[in-house]
Amino acid sequence: MMDDMNCLCLSNFNYLIVIFIICISESYGSSSKDFGHDHLLALAFLRRLDSEGTQKEWLTDIRCKILLAGFVCHLGNELLLSTSSQLTVDFYKSSCPNVLRIVRGEVMIAIKNEMRMAASLLRLHFHDCFVNGCDGSVLLDGSDGEKFALPNINSLRGLEVVDRIKAALENSCPGVVSCADLLTIAARDSVLLSGGPSWKVLLGRRDGLVANKTGADQGLPSPFESLDGIINKFVDVGLGVTDVVALSGAHTIGLARCAMFNNRLFNFSGSGSPDPTMESAMVSDLQALCPLTDDGNKTTVLDRNSTDLFDNHYFKNLLNRKGLLGSDQILFSDSTTTKALVQAYSSNTTLFFADFVKAMIKMGNISPLTGSAGQIRNNCRLLNSS
Ligand code: HEM
Repeated sequence: MMDDMNCLCLSNFNYLIVIFIICISESYGSSSKDFGHDHLLALAFLRRLDSEGTQKEWLTDIRCKILLAGFVCHLGNELLLSTSSQLTVDFYKSSCPNVLRIVRGEVMIAIKNEMRMAASLLRLHFHDCFVNGCDGSVLLDGSDGEKFALPNINSLRGLEVVDRIKAALENSCPGVVSCADLLTIAARDSVLLSGGPSWKVLLGRRDGLVANKTGADQGLPSPFESLDGIINKFVDVGLGVTDVVALSGAHTIGLARCAMFNNRLFNFSGSGSPDPTMESAMVSDLQALCPLTDDGNKTTVLDRNSTDLFDNHYFKNLLNRKGLLGSDQILFSDSTTTKALVQAYSSNTTLFFADFVKAMIKMGNISPLTGSAGQIRNNCRLLNSS
């Protein structure tokens, strides 16, 4: 407990004290119990990482962020949940009462093993929902599977972790929890355990019967695309401009391969020079990391300020011309509708977290299969044998 209290001294002592008290009281009080519990659990998780000497440099800061995140989600949660379709927060209440605990436990193990896994699991949920809706189709094996689509091949990660989570769920409640819901919960937990906000996940999705490789190639946004092109892809699945900017904030964690941004480093758009919207020291660093003679598979961090921490530094970077992908930096280009949002998020973590949570819930609601549609796969990689 003293450890957690110490972090309160870092900035704005009084404000954080209030948040901390809210966390504690909510955790033990009768209302909004999940929220307080979630954030204390995240704190306990990080304390354990700390005691084992891992990721020490950002642990103090991350604890403060978690307290702040708890406050933010408390303000928005109930309102957001009323916008859902047929999905419900207590879908597995009697059929698999431990579902949230099981997924959280497995995600914690995975992240403890490799912090980047939080980013990889978050991205899996995004790549699932944008293709055929959130139906677990991204997880299906097969040569015509989405895993072989351009945005996913040699890039998608976390599939073995999904296998482990699914095995744990099948062990407790066989044939009950869908792979699509598994991804939704794992994405939420990954954000929380990286120091970001939490929210109540809506559940009850079923798994699709087909993968859609062409859909993945056409529907997932590319880092080389124009801003209008990216916005259109979000609009196509029922999301809006605010969602584009808020969800791009997911690039506050994780890595990208040189091939995804080396077009900006040497001969940008045939100009013979690097992209002028990339800061010059960053250009030099990345030119050294990603020479054109390479295969493009080396990786670097998406958020240079705070790699593993879910915070608003991604947006601060954009203000300083330090966005890694073209599709990141373009959000801050002149005469775009997105510039004002980037500015707002860069100076207001509370607003970023609130909009991010709203957008994640919206994304999780893209065309879910419910009722008797689809199936509950026993193995996320395969359709059940008939
Ligand atoms: C707005 C359009 C977006 C584009 C163009 C885009 C593109 C990319 C690219 C090119 C990478 C690196 C892939 C690689 O190097 O193999 C990446 C990584 C990542 N993306 Fe996005 N993305 C977008 C939106 C999103 C959204 C909406 C989310 C989640 C809500 C997300 C979460 C992530 C995460 C967490 C990573 C790091 C994954 C890891 O380290 O394993 N992205 N994205």
